[in-house]
Amino acid sequence: MSLKELLKDKLSEEELKLVRRSFEIIGDIVIIEIPDEILHHTKDIVEAILKRHKHVKTVLRKVGEVDGVYRIARYEPVYGEKTETVVKEHGCRFLVDPTKAYYSVKLSGERERIARLVREGERVLVMFAGVGPYPIVIARLAKPKKVVGIELNPHAAEYFRKNIKLNKVEDIVEVIEGDVEEVVPKLPGEFDRVVMPAPYSAESFIHLLKGKVKEGGFVHYYTFDSQNEEEKLPEKVRKRFEEEGLNVEVLKVRRCGNFAPYVNRYVVDLRVL
Ligand SMILES: C[S@@+](CC[C@H](N)C(=O)[O-])C[C@H]1O[C@@H](n2cnc3c(N)ncnc32)[C@H](O)[C@@H]1O
Repeated sequence: MSLKELLKDKLSEEELKLVRRSFEIIGDIVIIEIPDEILHHTKDIVEAILKRHKHVKTVLRKVGEVDGVYRIARYEPVYGEKTETVVKEHGCRFLVDPTKAYYSVKLSGERERIARLVREGERVLVMFAGVGPYPIVIARLAKPKKVVGIELNPHAAEYFRKNIKLNKVEDIVEVIEGDVEEVVPKLPGEFDRVVMPAPYSAESFIHLLKGKVKEGGFVHYYTFDSQNEEEKLPEKVRKRFEEEGLNVEVLKVRRCGNFAPYVNRYVVDLRVL
């Protein structure tokens, strides 16, 4: 039964229209938007959520969009207090706190897809690694030699370190806390594969790849673009890389999320020539 159906005896028809159809479940935490107009029904909404999802310990009301360099939204607890939880993904476990560090289940399919592409013995670099889901899923599902993850938010980096232990991948995954602009140029050697789930203006980080990806190596480049421009995206990305002195071949473009009306998140798989 949907949330709206569960609430239909408590809210008026007009109020029901304001109830969001979807909410995000992260472990035992629910994140939901509750518009001001129906805020006085928060208790009813929480009860309806708990009826459907009995394991839930905390309900957070999202009071702002994902924002800032760390990509965190503002939340207000409307039920429970605990904001730390454990999420299961592809046989891995991640300790997360959505109020302190970015984590979204929405990209979990992408993480598995990339991990399945990684070949035995690869050296993989994950920029913008957050609490570590890409590096750890890759380390657990594939057989890389080494995965290096870079993350700026100290809380995210701390959870990343804990998640490495939790998933017993200490020998494979390394965390570097810092800004990709400072860290990447200092990294020794070239990588077989670089994953770039950039939080914003992905273009501005392309220059960092110079001399860091082996010839024949791969880049998974995430970017946001208008749906109307979708057809032009492969050539646009190829050209941007060329402008930065990197010759690449576009292997695949995949829509992997909706950001705003007619604006999607895309991943572009590239081979360095
Ligand atoms: C959209 S999140 C992706 C997190 C992670 N890859 C995931 O899938 O959950 C982007 C992450 O990049 C981090 N970040 C932003 N700017 C950065 C920079 N200049 N250097 C390193 N990390 C950065 C943010 O703190 C955030 O955790």
